[in-house]
Amino acid sequence: MCGIVGYLGSGVAQEPLIDGLRRLEYRGYDSAGVAFHDGDVFTLARETGRVENLANVLQGKGSQSSLGIAHTRWATHGAVTVSNTHPHLSYDKKFALVHNGVIENFSSLKKSLLHKGIEFSSETDSEVLCNLIAYHYSTLSPNSDSFIQAVSTALSESRGAYGIAVLCLDNPEMMIGARRGSPLVVGIGEDANFIASDASAFVGRAKEAVFLKDGELAILQGSEFRITNQQGHVSEAVAQPLDQTLEEVELGDFSSYMEKEIFEQPHALQNTLRGRFGDDGTTAKLGGLEGHEDELRNVDRIVFVACGTARHACMVAEYLIEKLARVPVEVEHASEFRYRNSPKSGRSLVIAVSQSGETLDTLEAVREAKTKGLLTLGITNVVGSSLARETDGGVYQRVGPEIGVASTKAFSSQVCLCAMLGLALGRMRDLSPTDGSNLVEALLGMPDLIAEVLQKGEEIRELAVKYSKAEHLLFLGRQSLYPVALEGALKLKEISYAHAEGYPAAELKHGPIALINPECPSIFLVEGTKLSAKTIANMQEVKARKGPVIAFVPEDIEIPEGAADDIFRLPVAHEVIRPILANIPLQLFAYHFARLRGLDVDKPRNLAKSVTVE
Ligand code: AGP
Ligand code: GLU
Repeated sequence: MCGIVGYLGSGVAQEPLIDGLRRLEYRGYDSAGVAFHDGDVFTLARETGRVENLANVLQGKGSQSSLGIAHTRWATHGAVTVSNTHPHLSYDKKFALVHNGVIENFSSLKKSLLHKGIEFSSETDSEVLCNLIAYHYSTLSPNSDSFIQAVSTALSESRGAYGIAVLCLDNPEMMIGARRGSPLVVGIGEDANFIASDASAFVGRAKEAVFLKDGELAILQGSEFRITNQQGHVSEAVAQPLDQTLEEVELGDFSSYMEKEIFEQPHALQNTLRGRFGDDGTTAKLGGLEGHEDELRNVDRIVFVACGTARHACMVAEYLIEKLARVPVEVEHASEFRYRNSPKSGRSLVIAVSQSGETLDTLEAVREAKTKGLLTLGITNVVGSSLARETDGGVYQRVGPEIGVASTKAFSSQVCLCAMLGLALGRMRDLSPTDGSNLVEALLGMPDLIAEVLQKGEEIRELAVKYSKAEHLLFLGRQSLYPVALEGALKLKEISYAHAEGYPAAELKHGPIALINPECPSIFLVEGTKLSAKTIANMQEVKARKGPVIAFVPEDIEIPEGAADDIFRLPVAHEVIRPILANIPLQLFAYHFARLRGLDVDKPRNLAKSVTVE
């Protein structure tokens, strides 16, 4: 949650900082602010609401400084007000700080600072850290070493999660960044260096990035930088080329990131699949699993941990992997897993799935699994993310940055990778070469089938228009389409604020059928299997109670007259591909439904893209 960006270079900081905030806004959008080092003072601008409000205030004025820090907030401590907006200045006005995370012991730290007569002007935990740094600095002689020391000491006294960038008035050529629990990356450019929560902030301006590890500090001084631990020991800075392009982080011809990310799925999924199949065309070859073949062959149970949409992808995986590899699979909310005492054998495999790779609940679940000695794998979209670093092995999704808060293309690629994992595990066990090569063929053909569904986008828009007044909707599906129903409901409620629930279709009669009335549409996902007859019977039960029915149905399944009010046809596909295909129109439905209500689909209320607090 929250986005941080800092600039130290030879140019003017303002534009790169505001541009950086615009690209980080998906991380939080309660308020935004910037502080410039302007010689004797910090120039501060802070506004509640979107980054655009701040940009408008700064237009044509602002600062010519070449050193500044900026922040877009997702409030955890204190209301959404200007005084709680970052950057925070210290009581003596010597330090400016931006913070992502939560300082858990802020209240005891604040109490002891208040005792020393130090005054506060916000309700945030972040200001406490800023004042603590200023207090420690005030006990030292004013120079750059003391700046570093004061930051390190204050951090060693703080508990919780932080990614910070700090400036000190006495050090006009210096910026310090530090992380524990929240992501932070240094961008290396020709005329400037950057600190940011995520590399998209400086794409186009920096060529390389160094991802900080927990407990590390980045010390930017003039045109140099170094990475140290909190004790001051220099660590090796591994610079990675920045492979993101401006095109990936900018909207282009689309009106929202969500729309862009839905429509780029055929291409994105091609990247997920590319070069990941064995030469004989019967299995998947996932580089990040190399070296673990023996352990994978012996796995007797797979536990997926994830949150939100990523968890729905894992629930699809549960059906696919059990079928392909005959290994028992369970899916846990990451936040629940870490506090449970469920028995695991030494041959259990824990797979964490997270688009951002920074979701704290998921990371904590991985840490817990590791303390129990279990093999951990990660599936994530973000290269260099905490999840990628902390798991024993893993696979990148390669779908490019996902900026819309509602996850779309990431879900499709997560399901696709889980199917590939199921294929690889299956081929190590019972799955025949013929079944393997049929699946490989189906996976390779999937991007074209997704494109086919997307071409019928207008049909989905018309459905959204027809049902746009509904305030309660049910999503129903069976087997691997049940998690797709959950995902369809989540997408709709996230961005349209309509109430939606997902159920296994047969569960309808055990309770939810009580909700059926002419104002409550039911969205049925019909399988391409014999089970479809049962789902169609459930549709008829809804129709008998005057509930509107929208059916998403493969082309080869017949729907009896009168069983549905609207039918959207999906291409006939291999059963492993069906959940991915069935989800595409639901993404579009949620998108149009929310747009018709005049809502901002990229930044839905109360949400943030990357949930780095518990
Ligand atoms: C998705 O639309 C949601 N915004 C949310 O449920 C998300 O999937 C969840 O927070 C997990 O994020 P992650 O994949 O980055 O771990
Ligand atoms: N805890 C801080 C606050 O509420 C930072 C939150 C964030 O990460 O945006 O201001």
